[in-house]
Amino acid sequence: MAISERLAINGGTPVRSTKLLPGWPGGLLIGAEEKAAVLEVIESQSLFRHYGPRPLHRASALEKAFAQAMGAPHALAVTSGTAALITALAACGIGPGDEVAVPTYTWIATINAVVILGAVPLFVDIDESLNMDAKALEAAITPYTRAVIPVHMRGAPANLAPILETARRHNMSVIEDTAQSSAPTVCNTIRQSPLVKGAWWSRAIGACSSGRSGSTIKGPSEWKNWISSSLETAR
Ligand SMILES: Cc1ncc(COP(=O)(O)O)c(C=O)c1O
Repeated sequence: MAISERLAINGGTPVRSTKLLPGWPGGLLIGAEEKAAVLEVIESQSLFRHYGPRPLHRASALEKAFAQAMGAPHALAVTSGTAALITALAACGIGPGDEVAVPTYTWIATINAVVILGAVPLFVDIDESLNMDAKALEAAITPYTRAVIPVHMRGAPANLAPILETARRHNMSVIEDTAQSSAPTVCNTIRQSPLVKGAWWSRAIGACSSGRSGSTIKGPSEWKNWISSSLETAR
């Protein structure tokens, strides 16, 4: 669509013909389809991932569809964005003695996930993108820094290319915290990014109306198997 020379408020053509939903758009989009899907699972009396009287295997279906939408080899559904971050970090072998670079502007869950694993958050300043400054990352890295979590705050994409390049040079894992960003943004970065060795991407679907949920995507299949078996026993 051609952008009008004049702002809509001054009589120009509006970019949108319909109003944006007010706060909590994810919640407001929940309707009959979602209600029917939830009821179908309850009626199956099978609320577990793998078993029950009549398991519908909805978690597997979600994982398959989500991985496909993200252009990732596989996805693993977990219970929250925080759980996605923890499982991704754990799969990268992060633990006591390690540092994980995090942006100074994020939600506390990003830091919690690092601390829960006994690692130390290494705070990196942000730039005008609202997100991690790649130059500040380069300056902050120490011999203990083993991973970096770029966060896409409020739908504004982090400048991933230089962060990925820095991570590649320092042999660091990259876990993308996409709890606050929209799917198209994330899809593009995943598809366009050169794969950093050992990279994992985490996604909390908070903005997509699933209440609390998350998934961890992209990584060698043996990691997926390791995480799957850990989830089965420890959730
Ligand atoms: C940037 C960021 N990361 C992680 C999370 C954690 O997601 P959850 O609340 O589903 O654990 C959130 C939640 O708001 C978030 O905003």
